[in-house]
Amino acid sequence: MAKNKVICTVNDVDYLSIRKAMTAGARTIEELVEHAGVCTECEGCKSELDAILASVCGCMKVSLEAVVNAVKNGADTVEKVGEVTGAGTGVNEETGEECGKCKGLIQNIIDLGR
Ligand code: FES
Ligand code: FES
Repeated sequence: MAKNKVICTVNDVDYLSIRKAMTAGARTIEELVEHAGVCTECEGCKSELDAILASVCGCMKVSLEAVVNAVKNGADTVEKVGEVTGAGTGVNEETGEECGKCKGLIQNIIDLGR
């Protein structure tokens, strides 16, 4: 899910806004309603929101659960979480550059422990 797109069409909330809210600590649909402005009026978006909430690193396909577990097991820096789970270590295939897009979220998970 690398590209941005509108997820909640009623309130015009896009994927990046949702990721931003997650990076600021949103972990549930209720928190996305509050912090990203999604409406949750349709079932379709709800399942999409669940999938977005459950994922931390799209590049390496690392789930929130995996990152939370790594943090609980002592990974207390973004680098250590990357070593254990692979999250945050994605590389853009075309440019060869590090992606790093999910690092802010990983740091937030470390900060909040969830
Ligand atoms: S359009 Fe807002 S949740 Fe579906
Ligand atoms: S989304 Fe995690 S490294 Fe790209």
